[in-house]
Amino acid sequence: MAIETKPWLVLSLLLLAANCVDGESQLPCVFIFGDSLSDSGNNNNLPTFAKSNYLPYGIDFPNGPTGRFTNGRTSIDFATELLGFEKFIPPFANTRGFDIQKGVNYASGSAGIRPETGTHMGADIYLGAQVKNHEVIYSKIAEKLGGSEKAKLYLSKCLYYMNIGSNDFINNYFLPNFYPTSRIYTPLQYVHLLIDQYAGHIQDLREVGARKFVIVGLSLIGCTPSALSRYKTHGSCVKELNDASILFNNKLKSLVDRFNINFFAHSIFIFINNTVVNPGTLPGLDVLDAPCCLSGENGQCIPDKIPCKNVDAHLFWDQFHTTQAVNQFTAKSLYNDIKLLIVHHG
Ligand SMILES: *[C@@H]1O[C@H](CO)[C@@H](O)[C@H](O)[C@H]1NC(C)=O
Repeated sequence: MAIETKPWLVLSLLLLAANCVDGESQLPCVFIFGDSLSDSGNNNNLPTFAKSNYLPYGIDFPNGPTGRFTNGRTSIDFATELLGFEKFIPPFANTRGFDIQKGVNYASGSAGIRPETGTHMGADIYLGAQVKNHEVIYSKIAEKLGGSEKAKLYLSKCLYYMNIGSNDFINNYFLPNFYPTSRIYTPLQYVHLLIDQYAGHIQDLREVGARKFVIVGLSLIGCTPSALSRYKTHGSCVKELNDASILFNNKLKSLVDRFNINFFAHSIFIFINNTVVNPGTLPGLDVLDAPCCLSGENGQCIPDKIPCKNVDAHLFWDQFHTTQAVNQFTAKSLYNDIKLLIVHHG
């Protein structure tokens, strides 16, 4: 993963780095928007098949299954730990016992930027609804801090981590039996539509104080075990799917660049290129195409089946989601990128 830098960003980083030597952990709060890559339990009580609060999911997690779609921690779990947070950021569905001022996780498995995405599996919380949930949290914080201005000032210091969009392809555009989008739009038209909607939701977050955004691009969706078996490519990634990821990422990167110019000094956006983490680029893994758990029709682990023994040698945990070992690897570069943002706009 590499962040995209601009000359002015590099310059201000150099200037700020001088008086910010141990500028770590300056981040008081993190709000998380996304899909199953980040979900930590928001789908547990929704009527959907897209849930994972059962074994073998969570088999390597401290408290067992929680609704995370992997064997252990997600990459944002690892990243927030590296940022100095002692507790996990709680899911919006259950913040009991947590301080919401340190952040909330709104991510929902199967969700996308479009409201209908993923709904053939049941209910999910799409990006627009996640933003609405954040507005509920905003009101609570405003009540606590004594007014909306104080809340916005506080919330301007938080990190807004957004990692969403894969499902708009794999659980929408490329499922023509369930969704009409591929008959209505060309891939380019569809990507433009997604990016416009994404931009609108980011604007809504800015209205309630958000200023520091980390916007994560899509990984190569054509390289998942699900894609390999569905398209019967004999092991090579599905070009049509990967091309969609790359097209989306290019437009998302342009949006981030545009926002950085338009909101200069009022917001900072960092685009993280996630296509760099793909099969073949990670050392120490030798099973790149087969999941570790036994998975069923929907690509998720079959309940209570014993998973593979050498989980850390696997890139994928189930048909779609990477193992904890890979998430930890991803989180390290994520953390380095987030640190730049804190230093720049601390
Ligand atoms: C992301 O990285 C890949 C691989 O290095 C590169 O081909 C692609 O152009 C990058 N995408 C963006 C939007 O920067």
